[in-house]
This record gives sequence, C-alpha cells and structure tokens, in this order.
Amino acid sequence: MTTSQIIRSLEPTQDNLLAILHRVQDANPANFLDQPELREVADYLELPYSFVYGVATFYSMFSVKPRGRHVVRVCASPPCHLMGGRTIRDELREYLGVEFGDTTEDGLFTLELSSCLGTCGIAPAMMIDGEIFGNLDGVRLREILDRKRREEP
Ligand code: FES
Repeated sequence: MTTSQIIRSLEPTQDNLLAILHRVQDANPANFLDQPELREVADYLELPYSFVYGVATFYSMFSVKPRGRHVVRVCASPPCHLMGGRTIRDELREYLGVEFGDTTEDGLFTLELSSCLGTCGIAPAMMIDGEIFGNLDGVRLREILDRKRREEP
C-alpha cells in the first residue's frame, strides 16, 4: 500500500489526524514521519502544515527524524526513578552503546526517555514499540533486548 493509499484509508476529518499519522509512521521503514508525508496528510485533511507538524512533534510516540526498527522508551518519572530507574537507564545506554535520542549502528534500536508509561506498579518499566516490560533489572533488560535481536529476520 502506498503512503497516499494509507492516508486516504480514513475519512478526511481532523478527528482522524492521529490515526492517520500512526498508520503512516508504522508504514515508514525508518519509523518516522517525513516532511512530504506530513504535507500530504495536511493537504488531505485540509489543515495547515504547521498544525500537522506541531501535532507530530508534540506527541512522543511520533518522530520527525529516522529511528531504528524498534523504539525503546524507558520511563524517567519519579516512581520508576525511585525503583532503580536511573540504573536501568545507565544500563540501557551502556548495553546499546547510544545516548538517548540516538539509534544503534545496526539500525535496530532507538533509545528514548519517556514520562510515566502508566505501569508504575511494575516499576522500573520500559516500552519497546507497543509492548511494556516491567520489574526491570540488568539481567532481564539484556534478556529482553537479546530476544529482540534474535527475532530479527
Ligand atoms: S512512573 Fe514509570 S511507569 Fe509510571
């Protein structure tokens, strides 16, 4: 399905903006929304480009720069922080060899900080793509990331 077909798969109403942006981003191999895509969405919904760009840059689940195949978001809010979140953040940076906002050389993982993921009961927590992982420690963290790597084709 082309980008145009994805954009036109929903009715052209502003209410569908977020859903369309999600679909377009999911279909982009570099896991982001590029400028031509945002312009086409704006044209289709008859919205100012600046508005669509503003939405795409407001929500942390969207990106306007290329990302890895998997987006690792680690929670940096106080409940996770109190449960060892800082150690988890340090271990993630060290294990993946990147800073927050960056992508691993193999293009597999982009590391991002997040505010509360809504799963404080299993702090410290992170989300990979749409999947939540909690009760993290260094061992579990490596197991999860290694499994993701093994699942790659
Ligand atoms: S504070 Fe980390 S999930 Fe809520």
